[in-house]
Formats: sequence, C-alpha cells, structure tokens
Amino acid sequence: MINGERTISRPLRWGMVGGGRTGQVGYKHRTGALRDNTAYKMVCGAFDLDFERGKDFGVKLGLDAERLYPDYKGLIAAEAKREDGVEAVTVATPNFTHFEITKACLEAGLHVICEKPLFFTVAECEEVAALAEKKGLIVGVTYGFTGHPLVHQMAAMVAKGVLGEIRIVDLQYSHGFNAGDDVGAPEAVKWRTNPATAGATFVLGDIGTHLYYLSEIVLPHLKIEKLLCDRKAFIPSRAPLEDHATVLMHYDNGARGRLWVSSVDAGNMGSQRYRFVGSKASVEWSDSHPDQLLYDVQGEPNSILHHGMPYLEEESLAFDRMGALHTEGLGDSWSNIYLWIAQAIDAKRRGNDAFLKTHHYPGIKAGTEGVRWLENCVRSADAGSAWVDFQ
Ligand code: NAI
Repeated sequence: MINGERTISRPLRWGMVGGGRTGQVGYKHRTGALRDNTAYKMVCGAFDLDFERGKDFGVKLGLDAERLYPDYKGLIAAEAKREDGVEAVTVATPNFTHFEITKACLEAGLHVICEKPLFFTVAECEEVAALAEKKGLIVGVTYGFTGHPLVHQMAAMVAKGVLGEIRIVDLQYSHGFNAGDDVGAPEAVKWRTNPATAGATFVLGDIGTHLYYLSEIVLPHLKIEKLLCDRKAFIPSRAPLEDHATVLMHYDNGARGRLWVSSVDAGNMGSQRYRFVGSKASVEWSDSHPDQLLYDVQGEPNSILHHGMPYLEEESLAFDRMGALHTEGLGDSWSNIYLWIAQAIDAKRRGNDAFLKTHHYPGIKAGTEGVRWLENCVRSADAGSAWVDFQ
C-alpha cells in the first residue's frame, strides 16, 4: 500500500511547461506530482502561451512570481543560475513542441516528464534516449491509468499463468466529444486535428497510445508480428488525420488483437476497456468501473475482483492507495506514475543502477514504443489498410 511516506532522499524541485489554466491535462500532472508532498516540490513554471495568464495562474498556485516565465527557454536559463534551481520539468504542451522542449531541458541537465505521444518519430525518440543516457537523466512518460493497481493485478495474473496462454486481446478507447464538426472548436481540438501540431495521427496517438502501453504492461512477453490499421475521418476537415480507427494485431505467440479508438463514438462516456483472454480464463477492466476487475474462468460463475482486497496479488496491493472500501481512480494512478518516475530520478541521481534495472516506471522506452506502434499503424493505413510486418 502507498500512503505518502517519503521513499526518496528529498523531494525533487519540479516545474511545468504548459498545463496552464486552460490546459486540459495540467491538473492531472499536479495531482500526480504533489499528492504525496514527499516526491516533488513545485518551484517554477512556464504554464501558458499567454504569459500574463500563465503568471497569474502560477501565482494562484502559490508559486513565487519571479519563477514564472514566458517560455521554456526563459525557465531553463533563469533556473540554471539558481542554487535551488529546478531539477525536473514536466512538458504538458501540444505534441509538436514535445521534442524541442524535452531536448532543451535534457541539454540543460534537467530530468523530463513528457506527455504522450512522446514525439513525432521513432528517430526523434532514439535521439532523445541517447541524449538522456549521455547526460545521465531520466525521461518519464505519463500514460494516465497505467498506475492503477488493477492494471498491475492483470499483469500479475498473466505472468503467473492464471489465464493460461493468451489468445485474444481486445482494447477500446472511445468517446463522442468530436462527433460534431470543428467550427468554433477550442485550441485543444484545433491542434489535435492538424498534422503540423498533432503529428501523423489524431485519435491513434491521442488515446490509442494509452491502450497500447497498458497492453504492454499486461503482456510484456508478447510482441506484435504484424498489424492492419484502418482509419477514417468522419469529419472530413480532419483528414488526413483520423477521428476513428481499428487496428488488428497478430502477436508472436499466435494471439490475435483488436483495438479501436474513436472520438466520434457519440454518447459514449465509457471510455477505456481492456479484455485479455487466455486459454483458461479472461480478465476485463474498464475505467468506468475502475475499482472492479472482471475475472471469468471458463465453466465457473463469473467473478468480480475488487481493488485493495487481500485476495489480490501482492504486485497489485503494493500500489493501492485508498483501501478496498473506497474508490481508487485516475488521480491515484497518476500519483503512482509520478512517484515511480521520482524514484527513477532519485536512483539515477545517486547512480543506483541496480535499482533502475528492476524498477518499473514509464520511461523513454514506453514513449518510444508508443511512437513505433503509431508509425506502423500509419504505414498500414497509408498502404490501403494492408497487413504490415511490425518494424
Ligand atoms: P491544451 O491545448 O488543452 O493545453 C495546452 C497548454 O499548454 C495550454 O495551457 C497552453 O497555453 C500551453 N502551451 C502551449 N504551447 C506552449 C509552449 N510552447 N510553452 C508553454 N505553454 C504552452 O492541451 P492538452 O489537452 O492539455 O494536451 C497537452 C498534452 O498532453 C498533449 O501532448 C496531449 O496529447 C497530452 N494529454 C495527455 C493526457 C493523458 O492522459 N496523459 C490527457 C490529455 C492530454
């Protein structure tokens, strides 16, 4: 169980680029980082493209006005001059800025926690991985629900053979918030539907990468051999980017996967659903009932496992925060992700490679694999939804 006790030598001095008052994801980062009060201390920010608004916002978060900057370059330069300068920076800005800001932070000796999809290309990911390695720094990536204890329950059950051999992987992340057209749409929709600012995909990168990383946590032993991606823009102005896509996947053990993502699934508030089917049993988890894991054994009555209960695997109980009687949700998951990244940064700082070898956290590899998966999806879709070997 995680109860907020200190697990690293001292809180990291932490700042944010983006994630300002109008940003959708900023609060989730602050929830994740500041919840325990023992892993991060927020010291600075360049929160907003609109400096005055970002400054006002930072002051209202309780930050020193002198440490609120018009942009990331100003933040890096001024913080470098301070003895108590920032050590780790979160990048919560639109996709097209991630690479440039992450690189600049690493060059300046700062650890980075960056949003997904990490960058536009695998080549960019590899360049940043090499830079982080050279500088001895950590890059963390925030796939929101992958810190939830029931995700790690599924992983432990698969690893221990409880489900038998995995045969079917069924993943869905869909909502209807873009069912209408984009006339008068907010900035967050405009940049997401423009290839120059979003990258080569819309919903595949925006929500599909969450599905993919979570499936990697549950099925680390399976690799995709080939996939087929069919994507479509139901709102034509979004083309060539998609607002809906289906991906079929063949795994190297013979398993079959089906993943679909959509932002035109009108009326659906269910969002994410994961089902892993083995030769003996299945597990299914959805963020609409995050406290519950469906566990269905062939030939037996179906059962519901509840988070925090002693019958769960130790790998799940270790990450529980609220206890079984109370809801364990997205904020708890973000707090775990941020804690794991802080522990990685702390270990890196102290040169504790042995810890890092076995420590689970979403790092540069998690970000890179998401981008690799996107590149394969786009290659398939652009070839007329052809099967392509996974590269
Ligand atoms: P948004 O458009 O709602 O907000 C972006 C924020 O960044 C705004 O405050 C804007 O003023 C600021 N900004 C933009 N460019 C900036 C720059 N160069 N310097 C400083 N501030 C800048 O975008 P949203 O939805 O918050 O997405 C941001 C990133 O987070 C995207 O990469 C997105 O894919 C990701 N995201 C991840 C989620 C998750 O669950 N992990 C959920 C939502 C978004």
